[in-house]
Amino acid sequence: MTVPAAGAPAPGNRADYREKIPNNVDLHEDRRLQRALESWQPNFLSWWSSMGPTLPTQDVYLRTAVNVGREGWAHFDHVAMRDYRWGIFLAERDRDRRIGFGQHKGEPVWQQVPGEYRADLRRLIVIQGDTEPASVEQQRNLGATAPSLYDLRNLFQVNVEEGRHLWAMVYLLHAYFGRDGREEAELLLHRNSGSLESPRILGAFNEETPDWLSFFMFTYFTDRDGKYQLGTLKESAFDPLSRTCEFMLKEESHHMFVGTTGIDRVVLRTAQLMREHDTDDVVGFGAIPLGVIQKYVNFHYSVSLDLFGSETSTNVANYFTAGLKGRWSEERRRDDHKLTDDSILVDAVVDGQPGRSEVSALVGLNTDLRREYVDDCRNGLTRWNRILEEADLPQRLYLPHVAFNRRVGAFAGIEASPEGEVLGAEEWALRKGDWLPTELDKTYVRSLMQPVHERGKIAAWIAPPRQGINGKPFDYEYVHLA
Ligand SMILES: [Fe+2]
Ligand SMILES: [Fe+2]
Repeated sequence: MTVPAAGAPAPGNRADYREKIPNNVDLHEDRRLQRALESWQPNFLSWWSSMGPTLPTQDVYLRTAVNVGREGWAHFDHVAMRDYRWGIFLAERDRDRRIGFGQHKGEPVWQQVPGEYRADLRRLIVIQGDTEPASVEQQRNLGATAPSLYDLRNLFQVNVEEGRHLWAMVYLLHAYFGRDGREEAELLLHRNSGSLESPRILGAFNEETPDWLSFFMFTYFTDRDGKYQLGTLKESAFDPLSRTCEFMLKEESHHMFVGTTGIDRVVLRTAQLMREHDTDDVVGFGAIPLGVIQKYVNFHYSVSLDLFGSETSTNVANYFTAGLKGRWSEERRRDDHKLTDDSILVDAVVDGQPGRSEVSALVGLNTDLRREYVDDCRNGLTRWNRILEEADLPQRLYLPHVAFNRRVGAFAGIEASPEGEVLGAEEWALRKGDWLPTELDKTYVRSLMQPVHERGKIAAWIAPPRQGINGKPFDYEYVHLA
């Protein structure tokens, strides 16, 4: 990384890494804000040391954001994790940007928070912000059982970036929401994943991530929910929020890469052993049976569907109309971007069966977003099934029915099989172990989680990656353990 001469401002949008809080938002010009963030910083660091990764390391080969431009936005180096520089980055400002949807469509975007939308915007930022440290907490013990140094490095990369995403949201709270914002920033460190007294806001972020299969599923399915939520906030008329989310999305794509390729490699390893030994039962070879992988897909997909909320929501309709939160790819939609006269078919229970009912398009926006997400999730299944196909295996993985295992929305009141067949409580209780990981499955997966911290080596239940990180080979020393 090139460092500008002492005293010189960082050129363009490049952050100056000699500053206490690296940023591209001219933090030094606002002393009050700078001081407020600097006083939050030690609280963040003490949260990181008490709730962050537990495996002691000397240093990790990490990507640090230094810029927001198309090229060269990140810098790779070995850094001690406690010295990682969590910076504040907003995507470049487009001075001509106009509101793309809702009742203010066509008006210039806002650089400040309009009083009437203050509470709603703060809520949206807090909910997003709460998920970022939550996932670090959920993943904190995984380092101890990493299948390779490459995977260990990816875990820590995801962790430090989720920490940076918390910074991104805390910056907005401090910069635009005064005392309430500062209080919310404290609460983001106070709530903890799985805590009984003060849990994280959303259900999926209080689930454990006890093993690496869960981690890959989480980064595939749950980080992907994050992608869609950030995508709607990227459309926001509140420009600083839009620019923040735009840059977060860039980092987020690596998290999903970790999930996608992680599951690829688990499926590949299982497929190899199934072929080699001509059996479905790969337990004896220390791999994860396809049936167990399917159960993990079922679980993580269904809890992630819940994150999109109810099929209908007047709050979300109001957010859209006000311009706070748009749709996925708002600019690519070929309609009036106001939706006041449109309708949508949303999932519903009709005569006791999963069906659809028509509601106004505005009220059905959660469904619209969830459908975009579901389509995207299918791509993973296509990939994994291609791996099975290439191994000449007849088995296929699938996404369960949208009514399966739901705790939020229209299907929360029914139980359905992965095919969408409605079941009575008794039958569900009897059969759910066929579809969701049982204690036995979880114990088995956990038993495989023996650490492989030796350079160039990998655990038996997963195939090595096709490529290393940033052009480095797989056997690179990605992490130096303490
Ligand atoms: Fe994130
Ligand atoms: Fe993420």
